[in-house]
Amino acid sequence: FNAVELIKVKRDGGTLTPEQVDWLIGAYTSGVIAEEQMSALAMAIFFRGLSPAELNRWTAAMIASGERLDFSTLSRPTADKHSTGGVGDKITLPLVPLVAACGVAVPQLSGRGLGHTGGTLDKLEAIPGWRAALTNAEMLHQLEEVGAVICAAGSGLAPADKKLYALRDVTATVESIPLIASSIMSKKIAEGTGALVLDVKVGSGAFMKTAEQAAELARTMVALGRDAGVTTVALLTGMDTPLGLTAGNALEVRESVEVLAGGGPSDVVELTLTLAREMLAAAGRTDRDPADLLSSGAAMDVWRRMIAAQGGDPDAELPRARETDVIVAPTDGVLTSLDAMAVGVAAWRLGAGRARKEDPVQAGAGVELHAKPGHRVAAGQPLLTLHTDDPSRFAGARESLAAAYTIGESAPAQRSIVLDRID
Ligand code: URA
Repeated sequence: FNAVELIKVKRDGGTLTPEQVDWLIGAYTSGVIAEEQMSALAMAIFFRGLSPAELNRWTAAMIASGERLDFSTLSRPTADKHSTGGVGDKITLPLVPLVAACGVAVPQLSGRGLGHTGGTLDKLEAIPGWRAALTNAEMLHQLEEVGAVICAAGSGLAPADKKLYALRDVTATVESIPLIASSIMSKKIAEGTGALVLDVKVGSGAFMKTAEQAAELARTMVALGRDAGVTTVALLTGMDTPLGLTAGNALEVRESVEVLAGGGPSDVVELTLTLAREMLAAAGRTDRDPADLLSSGAAMDVWRRMIAAQGGDPDAELPRARETDVIVAPTDGVLTSLDAMAVGVAAWRLGAGRARKEDPVQAGAGVELHAKPGHRVAAGQPLLTLHTDDPSRFAGARESLAAAYTIGESAPAQRSIVLDRID
């Protein structure tokens, strides 16, 4: 095949054959197709889309570019979840040990944060000693012994996606439904999970700003999972305001441990339990109510074993930022909105996130919320506490938050956290 000819096919709205798709992904992974050619092809796909048959083959070729894990020797079924990313989205931390406590093994391969959304690995690395890198054999052993693993995806998993995602990031081709769906699903299918629950975020702090776009992405991913033999369900959940009361690495670990201890903010608890029930149902285990295993402390026990198995000290004091700065409510009233994107950008500017892949993150940095939309506030009362090791960052964070909230007369209508379910 000839790369230029195949780019023309997509540019002009044509359809690639399965053999052409296989060749494109293989040749790109091995360096035969140049970055500028794949960049042109990604832009053609951005405008023209992929047919369902092209998308299935594209995803299969990305999986085939690397290794595929196999958990069929485990004594229990497996389930995983993937969130498309949000602000304060620490749900993976309490969810993985909770589902494991209910008898389903969770092989969660996670990533790091880029931009305003946090990454699960950055959060867990706030725990002294904890390490993200496991070999496949260590992962399998921990899944059998503890039932729960959260670790970094090795370089052998869907290498075509690693290359393509980095290219999309710098060529304005991230926001394409077939490219996002194949990127996420190739990694989850290669990971070898038996069942998958997708948490597709909708709102200001999410990739997908409207419910229509989010539903289309969800339907596309559910179909890819089903066609690959993975039981897949998607929930559309709101991301107009941060989840819980914290955005930042150690801050979110602390809040997750509160949830595992039976407390924590009600939205985090509700979403954790809802996703746990979906994962258990998708894995065929409906004999346990996750609420019982949360309140009994069984999920906390799995958390402690999971952290210790990866070198972390579950009893260690979590790092705290050296400096704090408080933003107070300017007037009396009801907090009517608190924008997720603005809080995410502020946490990032305070040092919780990174601008480039190789940047370090601050464990203690982030934003702590003292009120959520619907709560009554009084003039002068703390609304947000900013945390950072580097006080020169406060000005930028305050700038991001200047128009982030509104205070009005009456409470906004309460929206349920789950907006839709697609299976
Ligand atoms: N997350 C991914 O892994 N891939 C995308 O394309 C978008 C979000």
